[in-house]
Amino acid sequence: MDDPVDAYTTRFQKQEREIKSLSEEIEKLKNPENLGISSQLAELREENARLKYRLNILKRSLQDENKKCVKNTKNISQHLKQSNQFNKNMLNINQHLQKLFGDAIRMAFPDLQNPPLSVAPSQQGRFGDYQCNSAMAMAQMMKANGQKVSPREIAEKIVENIPFNDLIEKAEIAGPGFINIHLKKAFVSKLLTTVLVNGVQPPPLEMKKKVIVDFSSPNIAKEMHVGHLRSTIIGDSMCRLFEFLGYDVLRLNHVGDWGTQFGMLIAHLQDKFPNYLTVSPPIGDLQAFYKESKKRFDSEEDFKKRAYQCVVKLQSKEPEFIKAWKLICDVSRNEFQKVYDALDIEIIERGESHYQDMMTDVVKEFEEKGLVQLDEGRKIVFPPGHSIPLTVVKSDGGYTYDTSDLAALKQRLFEEKADIMIYVTDSGQSGHFQLIFAAGQMIGWYNPAETRVEHAGFGVVLGEDKKKFKTRSGDTVRLVDLLEEGLKRSMDKLIEKERDKFLTAEELTKAQRSVAFGCIKYADLSHNRINDYVFSFDKMLDDRGNTAAYLLYAFTRIRSIARLANIEEATLREAAQSTEVLLDHEKEWKLGKCILRFPEILQKILDDLLLHTLCDYLYELATTFTEFYDSCYCVEKDRQTGEVVKVNMWRLLLCEATAAIMAKGFDILGITPVQKM
Ligand code: ARG
Repeated sequence: MDDPVDAYTTRFQKQEREIKSLSEEIEKLKNPENLGISSQLAELREENARLKYRLNILKRSLQDENKKCVKNTKNISQHLKQSNQFNKNMLNINQHLQKLFGDAIRMAFPDLQNPPLSVAPSQQGRFGDYQCNSAMAMAQMMKANGQKVSPREIAEKIVENIPFNDLIEKAEIAGPGFINIHLKKAFVSKLLTTVLVNGVQPPPLEMKKKVIVDFSSPNIAKEMHVGHLRSTIIGDSMCRLFEFLGYDVLRLNHVGDWGTQFGMLIAHLQDKFPNYLTVSPPIGDLQAFYKESKKRFDSEEDFKKRAYQCVVKLQSKEPEFIKAWKLICDVSRNEFQKVYDALDIEIIERGESHYQDMMTDVVKEFEEKGLVQLDEGRKIVFPPGHSIPLTVVKSDGGYTYDTSDLAALKQRLFEEKADIMIYVTDSGQSGHFQLIFAAGQMIGWYNPAETRVEHAGFGVVLGEDKKKFKTRSGDTVRLVDLLEEGLKRSMDKLIEKERDKFLTAEELTKAQRSVAFGCIKYADLSHNRINDYVFSFDKMLDDRGNTAAYLLYAFTRIRSIARLANIEEATLREAAQSTEVLLDHEKEWKLGKCILRFPEILQKILDDLLLHTLCDYLYELATTFTEFYDSCYCVEKDRQTGEVVKVNMWRLLLCEATAAIMAKGFDILGITPVQKM
């Protein structure tokens, strides 16, 4: 075998020789005289310099292009990633469009600070499906900055910069600078399939937050009135919305279970049922019991004195007095529970008494920070910007509603670690809550930019005479009686429509409850909560217009379409996977888009806590469905025999998707639909 070192040396020497001869060739070439081409060479050199210059320009613009490209791929992958996330979850189309247009605006006008962004569904389908109206406002903004650009030019630039996406078919500029957005049918169809295959899933949640909703909150031994009913219905629906969206929700019943009224109640209990400690007192009507003790308190000096002593003993937690207090609370609690059971309300009782031991410390904290003033023996706190103070300690040393709400606020912030807190009461208490929130911020418990603490107020309930809601004899209406009457009226209605002839007794009772309680809840929720609202059984049980009765009927009708064509649920489920939802007919397209607006409706309610938006949407969905059903055959039958000759499966799937959204909407409103009615 050859020595490898030798072999390399030989190769190396050979290459050396080659290099040498090549170098000589090159030297010859370098000398133009040798080749007699000097003039040509000079020309070539000049040409070369020009080319070099152009090359540099090209290189630089290529670099710029590359940078943009990287940015764009980032955008593309971000948007694709986002739309991939919606594999299962419903996509908020509006929000998605806002992101795309937000990016487009930033790319087109990188120097404009906080450009206005507005994307909304188009009112009429012929101007596209959604609209972006930012160009006009941007032109105004730029004008103020001394730049004169027409809204149309701006709109053009925005459209040029829309990032790559799979949602927009085309974006057209109309009028002074409106951008009409047309969605891709294939994409919308895919989203509908997602709903059909996975059910109605919430849009993806960015961060799981803890929410406390303080609602219902009646007072022990006092009437649970229609105001509490409103709070119960609205608060429960808010909780259901947050729960559906994936938040961690704590439903709190801040019952009024502490205070000086317990003194007279206990004193009266001792007199009326002396052996209350061993035998449970049969207080049938706590309202009457309250009235009796109040009468004695106002007229009998001795009784009044004893009542005060009872308060002191209760506050020092003497066992006998605690027992009496508990007994009285239990009677009320059982009454409240009847209402909660009927309306299917889940709520945790954590009344004012829960915060008793925390109040001393809270007052101390305010005092130590120098925030307490004395006013004729009272201790008061003036939050900045408010002319009315909070009373944290009364002149007799007792605490107040204010003190317990301050303690509750602190406990919810620091122990429960709530990110969002909502108090649902009548608007009359708005002032109280504004003071509590301002005091909480003043003392540094929370920053409103991080923690959302809000009072969701509502108007009063009026009778049909537009006066305060009362019974015919002028008494306040007892809630249990009200619910009872709802049941009776709903049964009358069902019988009037001869439903008793088609439904079994069990189905009829189910329908009765569904209609009665559904209507009471819906009537409340479908009005803007800020306004007063007129309670009318006739209106709420009417099955025309925006009522639960109408929607419940519409829902059962939609649900029955497939059933009447003898199509099994399993078949529908299979079809959902394999059948493309066609959207060629104008009414199919309208319905498809309407179905997919659900997530954007929920997002809006999350921001303003106005649930009537959901009712309005469900009503719109039901009427859009009717338009579709009137002009698109789902199932074609032989005119003579009535036999099914053709099933348009994609249309049945549109029915299914509509029903699925309606069912979820009912669920959020706390309404229980029935299969048959
Ligand atoms: N019990 C009060 C009332 O009937 C409502 C309580 C509302 N909640 C609260 N944290 N203050 O008016």
